[in-house]
Amino acid sequence: MTNLRPTRRLSLAIATLIGFTMSDSPLPAANYDEAEVPRYELPDPLTMQNGTRVKSAKDWVEKRRPEVLELFRKHVYGRSPERPSGLKFKVIQNDTTALGGQAVRREVLITFARNEATPEATLLIYLPKDTDGPVPAFLTINFVGNHTLHTDPGISISRSWVRNNKDWGIDNNRADERSRGSRRSRWAVEKILKRGYALATIYYGDIDPDYDDGFANGIHRLYPKPKPDEWGSISAWAWGMSRCLDYLETDRDINAKKVAVMGHSRLGKTSLWAGAQDERFAMVISNDSGCGGAALSRREFGETVKRINTSFPHWFCDNFTQYNDRINDLPVDQHLLIALVAPRPVYIASATGDPWADPKGEFLSGYHAAPVYELFGLKGVGVAKQPKADHPVGHHIGYHLRTGKHDVTDFDWEQYLNFADRHLK
Ligand code: GCU
Repeated sequence: MTNLRPTRRLSLAIATLIGFTMSDSPLPAANYDEAEVPRYELPDPLTMQNGTRVKSAKDWVEKRRPEVLELFRKHVYGRSPERPSGLKFKVIQNDTTALGGQAVRREVLITFARNEATPEATLLIYLPKDTDGPVPAFLTINFVGNHTLHTDPGISISRSWVRNNKDWGIDNNRADERSRGSRRSRWAVEKILKRGYALATIYYGDIDPDYDDGFANGIHRLYPKPKPDEWGSISAWAWGMSRCLDYLETDRDINAKKVAVMGHSRLGKTSLWAGAQDERFAMVISNDSGCGGAALSRREFGETVKRINTSFPHWFCDNFTQYNDRINDLPVDQHLLIALVAPRPVYIASATGDPWADPKGEFLSGYHAAPVYELFGLKGVGVAKQPKADHPVGHHIGYHLRTGKHDVTDFDWEQYLNFADRHLK
């Protein structure tokens, strides 16, 4: 340690603070030193695998986009199945006096029936009242259960597996009243409603519980064990978001052509992958998504592909592990994931206190996706350098670096709402 440069020592201190020390893991400490980012060359969004140039939006849509999508399926997230034939929706509650009369609270039971198994998930929707016609919506995926979004006593408590948490009294992987509203600060429910949007959310554990169990739980159990190029949990969660959109398309109070898909952290990786694949999503938002999300993998800053595959072996497809020690051979990097959203608007948010997610790498992905937006005559982030903290930028690719930790705050929501007003209204 004494031989290390001061910046390297600082890196280790930061790594220790966020719980990843050298002694905890056989992996080397994460790099937080910009000077130690390796030299890298990104795959060119506008060059096909066979070397042909992509010259027009038509070339992108018909040739390069399908190629890039297939590369992500095969090497990173894994392919997922079609909508199951036994998919069913049932409105289980509709309260028009929610939140002191400001909103409608609706809950929809989604049944993913296939063969004999019928896992269920609950989609929670808040709708603003007194609107003229169907409203645009944010569809989000949450970490601890729908009932943690708000103290509203009418939200059903999640019955699925949930990570234990002392603060919220969760000790047997089951949530109860004690966690109601515990994540309220992350979901600006009233603000979203006031601005004329609906908020729909699903608990990720309803789709696939977040632990490595050999694909025996959640919706994975409806399907044979995945092959090396088939879905891990991120693909499963993204698939679940598309199934929620299937429901929203049937809800007459929602304008399903104006749905923004949003997620934070591992669920930001999920919202990007959902939006990249499913072009029905009109807008895509990634909050602090980091490695395997918006951050460029080739920078190896903060969390790396090797580390994420080691800590979370169930998130990506098995093929992804082949790139643990040779990231430059991966035929894609995450700027191409952002490009898959084009020409639809995409927003990337980072936080100053979140070096693990590589804020600069998240910005650079947005920056390097711009050539694809330009094929459509659209502008991307519109600046060549990562902006100062709390100065949102961007045209069709929005970006901000918020002051503060790895989190979702009102500041983040304010920017998403402004971005949505510009693009969805
Ligand atoms: C871990 C993981 C990240 C992930 C984050 C989260 O820190 O390493 O990749 O984004 O958890 O989901 O909160």
